[in-house]
Amino acid sequence: MSLTDQLMAEVQPALTTSGGKVTVVGVGQVGMACAFSLVTQHICSELALVDVMPDKLRGEMMDLQHGLTFLRNVKIEASTDYAVSAGSRLCIVTAGARQREGESRLSLVQRNVDIYKGIIPNLVKHSPNCILLVVSNPVDVLTYVAWKLSGLPKNRVIGSGTNLDSSRFRFHLSQKLNVAPSSCHGWIIGEHGDSSVPVWSGVNIAGVRLRDLNPAVGTEEDPEKYNEMHKEVVNSAYEIIKLKGYTSWAIGLSVASLVSSIMKNTRSCYAVSVSVQGYHSVDKDVFLSLPVVLGENGVTHIIKQTLTEAEVKQLTTSADTLWDVQTGIKF
Ligand SMILES: NC(=O)c1ccc[n+]([C@@H]2O[C@H](COP(=O)([O-])OP(=O)(O)OC[C@H]3O[C@@H](n4cnc5c(N)ncnc54)[C@H](O)[C@@H]3O)[C@@H](O)[C@H]2O)c1
Repeated sequence: MSLTDQLMAEVQPALTTSGGKVTVVGVGQVGMACAFSLVTQHICSELALVDVMPDKLRGEMMDLQHGLTFLRNVKIEASTDYAVSAGSRLCIVTAGARQREGESRLSLVQRNVDIYKGIIPNLVKHSPNCILLVVSNPVDVLTYVAWKLSGLPKNRVIGSGTNLDSSRFRFHLSQKLNVAPSSCHGWIIGEHGDSSVPVWSGVNIAGVRLRDLNPAVGTEEDPEKYNEMHKEVVNSAYEIIKLKGYTSWAIGLSVASLVSSIMKNTRSCYAVSVSVQGYHSVDKDVFLSLPVVLGENGVTHIIKQTLTEAEVKQLTTSADTLWDVQTGIKF
């Protein structure tokens, strides 16, 4: 009799899947920051890691597994074979080339589209009902590409979008006002990148709109220069990449918050990249960030923000820029 059988008597077979499975494709800096946040925040009960580098995969898997004593149990597996991802409720894609110092996100596009052609159909083959969460850059264009390659309905393909930009923005507001970031309410929408749009018309603390106190806030005319905050948000990734080579912790936390809302069906609102054709005068078939409600079925509602004419114009300009990039893609 085996030691296991001597130790315990089986009452019924253990379930092989719990419905709480998440896959992370790409175990680089971003993928592992996402994985670490998911495991430490108890967001999933099973985690599958996929990459093209078998040694790195095994090393990362073992390193995470050896910390499980200090956490709630999670089944962690890793493989270069997509069979390991089978039955995932949600698949996060972080694989791909990252920006080099000074390189814009949009210039990464064709390199990462070619990588996505090998990833997305494999994920959907093994988890036909999954929700795809795209993180690789340029995230808005790659969310469109993932949707095209997946055959999934649009509400099940989401890009991490400006959830991170909004968090950076709220951090800068908090520094200026000495109020916690979670109590500083402000949204960055549009492109996760150089043409993102800060919705100054809605920035508020406890419902008090900064624009009502200072109509120039966020404009070039503002003597207190709050508009510098958005410039800092746009430059954040460039600055961090210059300083440490990549960004990781904040994107990991930002992705974990999105995954949590989906896995736990909390119906929280986040600015994520979704299909925006028909909203705020956008007439192109592009994915850009707007505030949405996220639940177990992915995106259920898009929040109809009241935007100024200038904000709508910025958003449609972002859409046109992305559409130009998309038309150059070779599928
Ligand atoms: N959306 C955001 O807010 C945001 C923030 C930071 C980084 N990013 C993007 O995330 C991506 C990853 O960045 P990183 O710093 O982790 O890069 P990284 O180089 O550290 O990791 C990339 C990983 O992808 C893997 N990979 C490459 N081709 C693959 C394939 N065909 N299949 C499976 N895995 C493959 C590599 O082996 C590597 O482990 C980049 O595109 C980066 O620009 C997005």
